[in-house]
Amino acid sequence: MSKLVGRTIAESSKIESLINELVHEVSKLEEGITTARAPQDAHVDNGKKQFDEIGKYRGRPLFYPFLGTGAGRGPYVEVEDGSVKLDLVNGIGVHIFGHGHPKMRAAAVRGALSDVVMQGNLEPNHEYAIVGKRMVELASRKSRLKYCWLTTCGTMANENALKIARQKNTPARLVLAMENSFAGRSTMMAEVTDNPAYRQGLPVYNEVLRVPFYKPGDPKSADVALRRLKEHVAANEKNISCFVFEPMLGEGGYRYAPKEYFVPMLEFCKEKGIAVWADEVQTFMRTGELFAFETLDIGKYIDICTVAKTLQTGALLYTEEYNPQPGLVAGTFSGGSSALAAGLEALRMITEEGYLGPSGKIAKIHNDFVGMLNRLNETTCKGLLREAGGLGLMVAVTPLDGSKDNVTKLLYQLYKNGMIAFSCGRDPYRLRFLLPAVMETKDIELAGQILEKSILEMA
Ligand SMILES: Cc1ncc(COP(=O)(O)O)c(C=O)c1O
Repeated sequence: MSKLVGRTIAESSKIESLINELVHEVSKLEEGITTARAPQDAHVDNGKKQFDEIGKYRGRPLFYPFLGTGAGRGPYVEVEDGSVKLDLVNGIGVHIFGHGHPKMRAAAVRGALSDVVMQGNLEPNHEYAIVGKRMVELASRKSRLKYCWLTTCGTMANENALKIARQKNTPARLVLAMENSFAGRSTMMAEVTDNPAYRQGLPVYNEVLRVPFYKPGDPKSADVALRRLKEHVAANEKNISCFVFEPMLGEGGYRYAPKEYFVPMLEFCKEKGIAVWADEVQTFMRTGELFAFETLDIGKYIDICTVAKTLQTGALLYTEEYNPQPGLVAGTFSGGSSALAAGLEALRMITEEGYLGPSGKIAKIHNDFVGMLNRLNETTCKGLLREAGGLGLMVAVTPLDGSKDNVTKLLYQLYKNGMIAFSCGRDPYRLRFLLPAVMETKDIELAGQILEKSILEMA
């Protein structure tokens, strides 16, 4: 029997070595990108022109004058104005292996050699099959999750999660969600998101009931949350479809809670037949274990789990009971061939190359980075970088007075000085870092220098 052409392409050592050669050539061009660099006179005008054009054609400017050139190396990215930035946001958490990672790039090129650019639910290629299988194998090690459905982004994964929760628990309509949660940008996810600024002028459907998130230092916090949840359930008997929570609040301020906070609420939801849905769009691959439900050891309660970002596409995982009726969940796209191949490589690297676990690379980066923040807070930036912490590659700190104004100004100051960070939380506003898993000691030192300089300039 002759070999299929597709297999021949995928397994051809000639094609693989051409891909590696190509990636190597590109990486060689990026060799000079080793640290942050100021904008270059020769490129500033063109950089500004391009930045202005984006604003002109999309109706409002970008938050930062950032337009990547397509070159980058590790935590560093080259920008059209000739500068190189230390990128500690990584596309809001997409580029977990930083910029220009040779293995990610090679996987993306391999995927790009498919006969089609985009894959979908009617005519998928083999990357779709392998990503789904691998996700189920990994998720089911510590949970009852049994199926995986690919989508295009976190919001779409969440929309599908809500649909399957509602269908299984029909006619229940309402959603239990955390205070300060973020769930995406669709009409419904904007309502699940607890931030009125993100739904200004939109009608409110009153389908979301709030539970307070854990307050460190308040011994009653877990009881208060459980009581509130029970009150909602009692007042809306048989009308609550699901309880959605981020295992660690992302946009809401990078706050996390211990297992003991979650378990009583999750047990109560199970008792009442309310779907337990972990939104791991931001936490997936990042908290030190593959899933944050593993980090928190709550996998056995999870009925539905949504991921995106680091997987380079979106995915929805669910148990046998939540497998929906045909027709409920579909969609043209399930990710590009390149993105699926790169997502698969990200899964392979994170699980096979020493990133996870208490002595993995992620834990080391976390400890070193938080250590640096605490040192600054105790020395030169005394009291101006408080409450440093988080989980794994998700780290935040409360800078200055924690006001929106000052944190926004600090973000621009950091950007000017060569580092990209972002904010989260509202009361207080915090400085948020989605650290790349490839940070080295020298990069953490540089982050500390830029942070110190920027804070002192502002203070
Ligand atoms: C917890 C959480 N849920 C959902 C989303 C929405 O994902 P996407 O932007 O891919 O639609 C995000 C994005 O930041 C998120 O952090």
